[in-house]
Formats: sequence, C-alpha cells, structure tokens
Amino acid sequence: MLKGKKILLAITGSIAAYKSILLVRLLVKSGAEVKVIMTSAAKNFVSPLVLSTLSNNKVLVDLFDEDTWANHVMLGRWADVMLVAPLSCNTLSKMASGQCDSLLLAVYLSATCPVVVSPAMDEDMWHHPSTRKNIQSLESYGNKIIDVDNGELASGLVGEGRMAEPETIVQYITEQYFRDKALDGKKGLITAGPTYEPVDPVRFIGNHSSGKMGFALAEAFYMRGAEVELVTGPTIEQVKYKGINVTHVKSADAMYNACVGLFGSADITVMSAAVADYSPEAPALEKIKKSSGQLVLNLSKTKDILRSLGERKQPGQLLVGFALETNNEKEYALGKMKSKNADMIVLNSLKDANAGFGHDTNKVTVFEASGKEHTLGLASKQKIAEEIVNIIIDKLNG
Ligand code: CTP
Repeated sequence: MLKGKKILLAITGSIAAYKSILLVRLLVKSGAEVKVIMTSAAKNFVSPLVLSTLSNNKVLVDLFDEDTWANHVMLGRWADVMLVAPLSCNTLSKMASGQCDSLLLAVYLSATCPVVVSPAMDEDMWHHPSTRKNIQSLESYGNKIIDVDNGELASGLVGEGRMAEPETIVQYITEQYFRDKALDGKKGLITAGPTYEPVDPVRFIGNHSSGKMGFALAEAFYMRGAEVELVTGPTIEQVKYKGINVTHVKSADAMYNACVGLFGSADITVMSAAVADYSPEAPALEKIKKSSGQLVLNLSKTKDILRSLGERKQPGQLLVGFALETNNEKEYALGKMKSKNADMIVLNSLKDANAGFGHDTNKVTVFEASGKEHTLGLASKQKIAEEIVNIIIDKLNG
C-alpha cells in the first residue's frame, strides 16, 4: 500500500515512544521508505540504534551532528508525510506556538509536506484547556490529528490519552494521503460473509464464509479511489478504512433488501457473499425443545440476489459474481455468469489447498463474459482482491 512512499517519523519524549518501534516496522513492511528524527527526551524511551536498524536510515536528533549541520529543510521536502508519533504535551505546545529549539521543531516548521500528529499524554493533561487550545491551533495550521485511544495510561489511570495503535496510524495515513484515483467518481457495492438463516431465537443455518475476501475487495476498491458500500453478513472482520460504508445484515432476505436498495447507484457490484440458498420456512418464535423423535425443518428457497441484480442491470453497470464449486468448476461458473446476467465471475474451487473459506489466501480464476480468462495463483486475499480490481479497471478502460 505504501510502496515507495516517504514517511518522516518524528518521535517525542513520551512513554508511548515504545510503540514507534512497531510503527517503523509496519511502515517498512508496507513498502514505505522511513526516516526517523527524535527529540533528545525521546532517547530516554527508545534507542536510536533500534530505530536506525529498523528504518535502514540514520536517526537524527540534533541540528548539529559532529560539526555537520543537519539539513532540516530538505527532510521536510523529502517526505510525502511527516508523522509526529507520539506527540508529547510539551512538543505539542511548542508546535502550537512556533518554537524552534530542536531539530524536530525546525523540521516541522519548514516541512512542505502534510503533517499528521498522534498525541499521547495523561487524561487530565489531554483535557486541560491549554492542550485543547494547542490542538485547535495545530488543526488551524492544516495539521491532522489522530484521535487518542481510551484505555490504560502510563500513570495507572484508565481514560483518554493513549496514543493510537501503530496499525491505526498506518491505516490513517494510507487512507488520508495514498488512495489513488483510478476509480475516482465510481461507486462500488460489495457483499461479504455468510448469511445466518434463523431456525429459532437461538439457532441458525449458516456456512463457513469468513468475509475476508469481501472485506479485502471493499478495501481494494476504496484504495483505488471508489466510493464503497459494503454489505456484510455476520463476521469478525472489520474494515480498515473509515470511509467505507458498512451495512451489517444477518439473513439472505436482509442482504437482498440492502443490495436492491444500493444497486441503483452502483457502477460496479461484486457479490462475494456466500448467501444461503435455503432458509427455514417458519422460524420458531420460541426455542425449539428437544423431543424423542426426529426434527424436520422445512426450508424454502431464498431470493437469488445476483440474479435479481442481473435482471435490474442498466447499461454502464458492471456486475461480478462469485462461484464456489467442488466439481465441473469452469462449466458451472460460466453457466452461473450467463444465467444471472453477470459480466464477470470469479471461480473459487474448493479443490485448491489454502484457498476459499476461512483461509487468508486464495486462488481464483476470473472469467469475463467476453471470453477472457485470468488465472490468479495462490496469494493473500488482499493481493487477489487487488488483482480482481485491476482486471475490472482494465475492463472499464476498454
Ligand atoms: N448468490 C446470491 N444469492 C443467493 C445465492 C447466491 O446472490 N441466494 C450469489 C453469490 O453471492 C455468488 C453467486 O450467486 O456471487 C454464486 O453463488 P454460488 O453459491 O456459487 O451458486 P448458487 O447460485 O447458489 O448455486 P449452487 O449453490 O447450486 O452452486
């Protein structure tokens, strides 16, 4: 996601500085080039040696280093984003008032790139009127503030003031600055996860879908610039980016209603949810009690959402289905694409090891109605989602 992006991480003296080690690792793992600067107070909490090793770059602390002047102006011009994390109360106050008594503050004042700060302090300090005022000043300068977390603080108290987790910080800057524009102005509708069909108030019929593929698709569309509506069945997955609109549903019927409501304004729809084909005809209102004989449930067919959307499809709308097969895979997948009026179908074979339900990886073949075929080898669901989005972008570009 951050491949080739240049991040300047500025660390100040706060106990939360220990999290900066993980932050550097995450940024580097995401493909970013990272340079670290820190205040001398920050050295009390985290060692420059660890940070220089992880970032593969020298860590700068002072404006003068062994008779050499550190070129603070170039650091702020080099970076795509300057990230101050953790931001202590002291450095916040200095940034707000324009003081310049450290390398970090000199870089901040001369930075031409966007500046994001992730504060960390005790709850009472966080709520102090001077801190509120300083945060407002930073906002008025155009700096972005990452919300503090609520939880255990270094003082032993519990409350607001914890620095956001490194994952949250990386997701924030990725969403804020590094979405591309290939699908700018396009609206995507994605479905994910299983559906739960109620048997009685405590039981349901479901399936093993984890929702991972649909969530990865929603994120991939979003990062290419699309507006995204994600309709998901029950799952523990959570979206990484705040800008994705999520509708939570349980049953196939609820998913049908949500999709029909959103489909009219969608340019691209991808139905990756594992929708139940059958649902108990008359769910019991009270818990079904054990009895000596067999229990027979009458199931009725659910509405086929993809087929219904295929019937409603207008020129200019692109509709993509998924097909989960165990045998005669290609034949069944092509049959579903045609009969449901989809423009593409993504085939998941349950014969492939480490692919499909529950896994973090997948292996799929994408068939286009035009006859084109794309085989995507075993890769993370994120990578597969990005490839599927690339295929869709190529198709839209003709
Ligand atoms: N689908 C749907 N509504 C349903 C059932 C399936 O929208 N009630 C969609 C799925 O989201 C998927 C595609 O149809 O995009 C194919 O789903 P799949 O379960 O592979 O096929 P089915 O059509 O249900 O056929 P079968 O179970 O007989 O293979």
